[in-house]
Amino acid sequence: MSRVVVTGRVPDAAVEKLRAAHEVDAWPGPESIGREELLRRVAGADAVVSLLTERIDAELLDAAGPQLKVVANVAVGYDNIDVPACTGRGVVATNTPGVLTDATADIAFGLILMATRRLGEGERLIRSGQAWKWGMFFLLGSSLQGKTLGVVGMGGIGQATARRAKAFGMEIVYQSRSEIDPGIAAELGARRVDLDELLSVSDVVSLHCPYGPATHHLIGPEQLTAMKSSAYLVNTARGPIVDEAALASALREGRIAGAGLDVFEHEPQVHPELLELDNVVLVPHLGSATVETRTAMAMLAADNVLAVLSGERPPAPIG
Ligand code: GLV
Repeated sequence: MSRVVVTGRVPDAAVEKLRAAHEVDAWPGPESIGREELLRRVAGADAVVSLLTERIDAELLDAAGPQLKVVANVAVGYDNIDVPACTGRGVVATNTPGVLTDATADIAFGLILMATRRLGEGERLIRSGQAWKWGMFFLLGSSLQGKTLGVVGMGGIGQATARRAKAFGMEIVYQSRSEIDPGIAAELGARRVDLDELLSVSDVVSLHCPYGPATHHLIGPEQLTAMKSSAYLVNTARGPIVDEAALASALREGRIAGAGLDVFEHEPQVHPELLELDNVVLVPHLGSATVETRTAMAMLAADNVLAVLSGERPPAPIG
């Protein structure tokens, strides 16, 4: 029997699955585990199930000790994990790809609709108690049919967002490290372009790339200037891919039409200027937040742990 530390609250089914085979020390929450408590609890663990709010770095791996075999992130993104530090210590790192693809694409498309159709503004207006009535020119937004969606990072979530956009009559361009499956590209009518072209032709730019040194502030002042002044930016990937101060200026000065954000550069803080702007929709990192998806993510993380502890290849290793 091995010792598994679960660093935050996850759906019970996953904890029970782990408990059937191992000793499980699960942080009960609801507050997140503090760093000191985390370092204390991981000591002697064979496996750590981590949430994206926890930094898994050399300090934590050393605090755990040399018996640690696996760190299973309950997220597809793993910028919170120092993967080389894991690899260097023989610790397998895993994530949860696939199971949150549709939920996250739904939120991306929800933000696209909210931003282009000014749904946040409309909702705030009604709640403010201000008088309003239907008017020919009241809260006019922008249609999606015939417009172009630019997908930055055409992995599973980017493709799922593109599929939704196609159903809404949009054209698709994408920028990605690699060419996608030709059958999928043909089905979506998706054309691969470089980032400069994507920014200049897209009416909506949706970010789906992983975050790391190569994508830090991928969208900064220059890229925002390259976008059409009628275009919208949507980010459901990771906050620091966008220079938030530059985005706030571009939105304030009308250099782009609007934005929808599910993630933030200094999460959970939101740039104060964004809070003042009507042309940005802000939601609190809800990409994978459905009961079904969070359960599937936690179960996949549990399967990753169980496989490594049995000496097998986990279903979702990183790298
Ligand atoms: C959520 O942000 C994830 O990476 O799973």
